[in-house]
Formats: sequence, structure tokens, C-alpha cells
Amino acid sequence: MPETVLVTGGAGFIGSHTCVELLAHGHEVVVVDNHVNSSPHALDRIAKTAGRPLAGAFHVDVRDRKALAEVFARHPVDSVIHFAAHKAVGESVGHPVEYYDTNVGGTCTLLSVMHEHRVHRLVFSSSCSVYGDAQTVPLTEQSPVAPTNPYARTKLMCERILEDVCTHLAEMRVLALRYFNPVGAHPSGRLGEDPQGVPNNVMPYVAQVAVGRRQKLSVFGNDYPTPDGTGVRDYIHVMDVAEGHRVAVEHLDDRPGMQTFNLGTGTGTSVLQLVAAFGEASGRPIPHQIVDRRPGDVAELVADASAVAAAWDWTTTRDLAAMCRDAWRFQQLNPHGYSRRPGEAAAGETGELSCG
Ligand code: NAD
Ligand code: WQD
Repeated sequence: MPETVLVTGGAGFIGSHTCVELLAHGHEVVVVDNHVNSSPHALDRIAKTAGRPLAGAFHVDVRDRKALAEVFARHPVDSVIHFAAHKAVGESVGHPVEYYDTNVGGTCTLLSVMHEHRVHRLVFSSSCSVYGDAQTVPLTEQSPVAPTNPYARTKLMCERILEDVCTHLAEMRVLALRYFNPVGAHPSGRLGEDPQGVPNNVMPYVAQVAVGRRQKLSVFGNDYPTPDGTGVRDYIHVMDVAEGHRVAVEHLDDRPGMQTFNLGTGTGTSVLQLVAAFGEASGRPIPHQIVDRRPGDVAELVADASAVAAAWDWTTTRDLAAMCRDAWRFQQLNPHGYSRRPGEAAAGETGELSCG
């Protein structure tokens, strides 16, 4: 049954792709975003890509209880996907209070406003970072959690809060999805990852090297106990992540209480393999040099993705070549992201942005 889904952080990287996927499957979508890490232009692109409008889009901070309540009062929300958060690991070490305030405080405010409006169905963005420095891979949902930085701790704290809320409220249904490394872009080239400043993550950095915005990639260490010595990660196409959220919404009523799932492919890729695949997809070699390890990095993080497959009869379908191809198409079509061309104004920075 189509439903109205409120998507916090819906203008962001994963949120924007998820909105398109929800719209394409007949759901009504309401976005709440304060654009601290996204462009309002993404909202127009969501509607253009999906071929139908958002039901509403609000420039609202999820910590703003009154403004959030007004959104729930205006729209008959059936379920919520909660993406809005700060996500940079390094930044979280320098700004822990900001991270706890937004990620944990924002989740608490959202939960209480949801309860006031009798909305009890939630899909929550968690992260593979809750596993910390994994001792054995692949990681199952039962693997020990041991977050190593404030960002990862905010995600684990939110999971704990959600468990407690589910224990307290029999009507609550929560699916917490621990994503591994989302990359890639919508195949149209209209939506993709648009990081501000120097990208922290490897895929957008490589894409900017390919397009000529950066000279070369620094590969952080080649002395890890991995086949080629560089870090191994479970990269997952953002379209698979988006699809996973749409499928999650449709499975929210499977069981009462909270369930936690990995969202990964189960396939590990090293940095050098990623560099080679991107070179192949773009037809441009990616200049790179080996430098020291990045503090806090771990050798290998790969998901055991079997639990979600068993629960929902759903698996990821897009491979590394598709991830690189689609990331490259977005980078080529949007060499400076959505709106950061000289002289171009960012539209609709305040108030309600668009309503269908
Ligand atoms: P993103 O930064 O592109 O999107 C987050 C969105 O939330 C942005 O549009 C931002 O403006 C918005 N936002 C932030 N604080 C807000 C607030 N207080 N009120 C309203 N909106 C706010 O990040 P993303 O990559 O799309 O990540 C989405 C979620 O997935 C986050 O919760 C992140 O922690 C989680 N996650 C991301 C990754 C990844 O590698 N991208 C991996 C695991 C988990
Ligand atoms: C991937 C690999 C680096 C940049 C992060 C967050 C994690 C989760 C996913 C939110 C590593 C190497 C990187 C570069 C490099 N996000 N690398 N040169 O660190 O696995 O995970 O995103 O929940 O919490 O920490 O992703 O893309 O930064 O790094 O060699 O310029 O690429 O060492 O092996 P990471 P990443």
C-alpha cells in the first residue's frame, strides 16, 4: 500500500536517492532538511528524476521540536526514514557536542514528536562504524560493537535509545540499517554525492581526481594485512541503499519492536581495486601515491549481508563497475556539484521550499 513517508535529511546523498525510489513506487514523500550538508537544488532534482513532486519539503532542523511538530500536523505521516545527522568521523572528534546534539538529540526530538502524532514506524540510519576495529570479517549483526569515535558512538547510542523505546511502546516498529560504504549515483547523472570542500571519502575523491579537480589520490597505507596491503571495504551502490530503504518501509510491520540489519554487498574491495575500476569506468588513469595510514582506519570491513536477504527476500544487484560508472557520470555532468558554480545563488535557503 502506498504510504506517506517523512524523510529527514532527504536532500542529502542517500536521502535524495531514497526519495526518488519511494516516489517511483507510489509513496508520498515529505522532506525535512536544514541543508547544513546539502543543497536545496537536490529537491528539484528529486522531483525531476522521479517525474512527480514531493508532497512537501521543509527547511527545518530536526532538533526544532515546534517546527517538526508543524510538519507532522500538516501531513498525514505513516512512517519516517531518519537520515538527518552529521557523518564525518574526523570532524566528530573535534566537535563531539555538536555530533551528540544533532545525531542523538535530533533523534530524541524526532521520536517524541512522532509519538505525539501517533507515528510509530521508523527506519533509522545506522552505520558499520558501530563495529569499530573488526577482529573478524564478514561482520554479522551479532558481531561485537565497539565504536572508536564520537560519530560512531552517536549511532550506537541511537540504536540503544530505539531499543528502549521499543521495549516501552508496544506499537513501535523500528528497522535500524547499518550501512557499509555507500557510493555511486543515480544512473541519470542528476543525483549524486556532492561533498563540500575536500572529500573525506575515497570515491568522491577519486571522482574529483578523474575530472581534474584534484591532482592525485593519496592512498592511506599499503601495509595492511589485506591482499594488496590497502584497506578493504564493502562498497554498496547508493541505488541499492535507496532500494533497501524502500523495501524496509514495506517490511516495517513484519514484526513488532526493533530489528537491526547490515546493508552491504558482502564483497570486499581494496583501495587499489577501486582505483583500477574507476580508471576503467572513466577511461582515465587515476594518479595516486601511497602515503601513511590514516589514523583510526581499520584494515577490512565487510558485511555478512545474509540476514536482510533472508528477512526480505531482497539483495543488492549493482556491482563495483556500476558504482564507478554512475559516480563518474554524475561527476562529469556536475563537475562542481549542484549549486556551487561562481555566481549561482542557492535557491530557497529559508522557509518552505516546495510543496506538491
Ligand atoms: P548527507 O550529509 O549527504 O545527508 C544528511 C542530510 O541531513 C543532509 O542533507 C543534511 O543537510 C541533513 N541534516 C543534518 N543535520 C540536520 C538537522 N539537524 N536537521 C535537519 N537536517 C539535517 O549524508 P548521507 O551520506 O546521505 O548520510 C545519511 C545518513 O546515513 C546519516 O545519518 C549518516 O550518518 C548515515 N550513514 C552514512 C554513510 C555514508 O558513508 N554516507 C554510511 C553509514 C551511515
Ligand atoms: C575507504 C578506504 C581509506 C580516502 C567512512 C566512515 C564510516 C561510514 C562509511 C558513515 C579506507 C581509503 C580514503 C582517501 C584513501 N560512514 N582512503 N584515500 O573510512 O571506510 O568509512 O564512510 O557511517 O563511518 O568512517 O570510508 O571512503 O573514507 O575510506 O586511501 O583519500 O579508502 O583508508 O581504506 P571509511 P572512506
